[in-house]
Amino acid sequence: MRIIKAADYQDMSRKAANLISAQVIMKPDSVLGLATGSTPIGAYQKLVEWCKNGDLDFSTVKSVNLDEYKGLPRTNDQSYYYFMHENLFDKVNINPANTHLPDGTEPDSDKECARYEALIQSLGGVDLQLLGLGHNGHIGFNEPADEFDKVTHCVDLQESTIEANKRFFASADDVPRQAYTMGIGTIMQAKKILVVVSGEDKADIVAKAFFGSVTPQVPASILQMHQDVTLVADAAALSKVPQK
Ligand code: F6R
Repeated sequence: MRIIKAADYQDMSRKAANLISAQVIMKPDSVLGLATGSTPIGAYQKLVEWCKNGDLDFSTVKSVNLDEYKGLPRTNDQSYYYFMHENLFDKVNINPANTHLPDGTEPDSDKECARYEALIQSLGGVDLQLLGLGHNGHIGFNEPADEFDKVTHCVDLQESTIEANKRFFASADDVPRQAYTMGIGTIMQAKKILVVVSGEDKADIVAKAFFGSVTPQVPASILQMHQDVTLVADAAALSKVPQK
């Protein structure tokens, strides 16, 4: 694992965007695995800026997102579809037909998960997967569990997640109860993985996930077993990493 230490959130965003940009320049038809959440927003802003000034070309890039709420229409501003269009897709020259997310409006979970997993394989797999890190070590919607979930699946959101997310909805009743997510196995198949983390509130989980034991109770800890992982984190997020 490579650790790239950034000074702060802005620096982390620029460094992460540089790595994504290098991937697209070296392989213009890359399949990018993308994430939502607050952490990647700064990196997406940089990519937008570089695309606008002509330094970056997304015209042959394909993308697959990690996850999506089940039951939310694309027009809902809390859907990950909406987030990706708002923060990246509508602002760069990517072909919308080449952008993919799980379809939250498909009620048949088995059907949708099988479709999404087959789609990723049909694209030849993910070249570079971008990941954020949850406070409990989750990646995608893969929460702490007794075993690692392998492929794309439907998860029941934990009460704590519903509680945490209710501020974005009119009421707790409006928060989706389920989500579709790539599995740990799907994520581990990516050729390269780029994890972005910022802030002191993530320092404990960074130390646990990347320097503790590999266990499904800390889903991100499996990344220690991947052959090409880069962690770009700011000084605050790295503040509890054991010193050599
Ligand atoms: C987003 C995702 C989540 C987030 C994680 C961190 O698609 O799958 O696992 O990456 O919850 O979120 P932030 O970046 O908001 O701290």
